[in-house]
Amino acid sequence: MSTQIPQQETESETEPETEPTEETAQDRRLERKRADEAERQERAEAAAGEDEDRITLKVFRYDPEVEAKREPRFDDFQIPFEQGMTVLDALMYARDHYDSSLTFRHSCRQAVCGSDALFINGSQRLGCQTQVGDLDTPVRVEPLPHQEVEKDLVVDMEHFYDQMEAVEPYFQGDTPDGEEQRQSRENREKIKMSTRCIWCGACQSSCNIAAGDNQYLGPAAINKAYRFAMDEREEEEMKQHRMDILEQEHGVWRCQTQFSCTDVCPKDIPLTEHIQEMKREAVKDNLKFW
Ligand code: SF4
Ligand code: FES
Repeated sequence: MSTQIPQQETESETEPETEPTEETAQDRRLERKRADEAERQERAEAAAGEDEDRITLKVFRYDPEVEAKREPRFDDFQIPFEQGMTVLDALMYARDHYDSSLTFRHSCRQAVCGSDALFINGSQRLGCQTQVGDLDTPVRVEPLPHQEVEKDLVVDMEHFYDQMEAVEPYFQGDTPDGEEQRQSRENREKIKMSTRCIWCGACQSSCNIAAGDNQYLGPAAINKAYRFAMDEREEEEMKQHRMDILEQEHGVWRCQTQFSCTDVCPKDIPLTEHIQEMKREAVKDNLKFW
């Protein structure tokens, strides 16, 4: 079974059709995040010193292997709130104090491993990066939409990993014997953001196109292809091979520039800009001069 996401406001609804420059669009998003952070600080300061509070955590439950849990439902957990508590902390509290069968993935607890992407209050976010104090209550936690749910908050990530593998995300070709492959500072700067992906799948889950076209490579895989195709150390022949993968029917041209992937990426990767850049590369690739 899978869950559905509500309609999301997209940047294309609020901005002109023209492509924003990378700096402007990215700056605007980061500015918005900074404003949210400032608001969170204010709320935290206002709440400091208050008595212990409890919040309600509404958690999606489903277990196909237990008859009584085959029907999806939400369970409510009362969690003692502490400043700095993340959604992952709250889930762990619920598991450790109320129901040890509550199932979810997590590992690093510091936005590095990408294993705890969840649908929290209607948006794809990392549980360990999302402060409970930033959210309206009750806090509603669901598995990533558009993925098969295996149990409670755990989804099947195989298809996402297959799409990532499809772009062959690694250097190939011969390295000249004993020669160091150097990269210029400018080129490193250019691909820097694309290297930050932690394979969490939040972008893919937020993408309406990926939801309707199971073969669409998706934003994370295209970003991964960008990371190598735009690296000056990539051999010309390999870059051409990568472009062939991106130009296929379910590749870059499927993207409708909705920016939903960019909005939810926990690592602030300008995914839509990267996809647009690969579209431009694809056009250049097909230009013929006689
Ligand atoms: S591009 Fe961002 S949202 Fe997508 S998998 Fe990578 S880190 Fe997660
Ligand atoms: S637990 Fe690793 S990213 Fe959240």
